Amino acid sequence: METLFRNKHLITLQEWSREAIDTILDASKSLKLQFALGQPHRFLQDKTIFMIFFEQSTRTRNSIEAGITQLGGHAHDLTPDKMQLSHGESAKDTAMVLSRFGHGIAIRNCFYKIGNKYLREVAKYSSIPIINMQDDLYHPLQALADLMTIKEKFSQTEGLKVTISWAYATSHAKPLSVPLSQILLFTRYGMDVTVASPKEFPLLPEIVEQAKDNAEKYHGKLRFVDDMDEGFEGAQVVIPKNWGGFAFTEDKEEMQLNLEKYKGWICDERRMNLADPSVVYMHALPADRGKEVTDDVIDGSHSIVYDEAENRLHTSKAVMALTMGGRP
Ligand code: CP
Repeated sequence: METLFRNKHLITLQEWSREAIDTILDASKSLKLQFALGQPHRFLQDKTIFMIFFEQSTRTRNSIEAGITQLGGHAHDLTPDKMQLSHGESAKDTAMVLSRFGHGIAIRNCFYKIGNKYLREVAKYSSIPIINMQDDLYHPLQALADLMTIKEKFSQTEGLKVTISWAYATSHAKPLSVPLSQILLFTRYGMDVTVASPKEFPLLPEIVEQAKDNAEKYHGKLRFVDDMDEGFEGAQVVIPKNWGGFAFTEDKEEMQLNLEKYKGWICDERRMNLADPSVVYMHALPADRGKEVTDDVIDGSHSIVYDEAENRLHTSKAVMALTMGGRP
């Protein structure tokens, strides 16, 4: 069991060992139980985390803020307009100063080709842990909660047939970071992963290559199809979700025209019936109801989206407790 986490940055789980991820999952389970029992678990008494959100959030913001309160600490809820970032203050100066004030810095910056670079720059100068609350490439907190949820529902992950499918949505072009983090992590747990997407909505080739390497090393599988029905056939877990076509074109108008070709990519009862009879439906949320998924599926008996969302709390707490506290 890996136990040395203090001051470790979490930018992507790909940089954490399997042992470290297993420890986080064990801690998440323990914290979930303590929360259910109403047992105090103030592992971060008087500690401060700075949350910097370049974009909106419901689950990530509130799981971190509620989580650190339950751990005995405090969160600052920051946006660039509240900071000198908006006047161009450098990542270095932000990192150096916040490192002297508190115990962790959590950042969400999903701007394509900008977000991850920004996090890496802050991490370079921070002497306290940087926690990625989602960037353009990775959403490790979501992937951890997804893995925890899958492990709660299935006796083993090896060989589990998981389909990550692109789906139509109009709310906004969602980042690539959720499916990219899922293919990287699930293949490390031996899952049989299928990605279904139209050709204009591919995942990033360089990360796909890493996920293929993971699959080979950990006896998982990774295949790609361009038909949603084919992706659903026989799946035990389906995760249909929109992502933007950033890896195909950065031209917003072209991306919008491509999007409108695929209105039929919705998760509905007919498609759920193509999957394994005991299939579970997952979504990181927020979902575009009526576009990505029908109400009868997301509100139906196969849906585990609220268990998945709840696990955001427990996994975020485990990451904070171990990186901001933990053994010296
Ligand atoms: N899944 C997720 O990250 O949700 P929020 O955007 O609400 O944080």
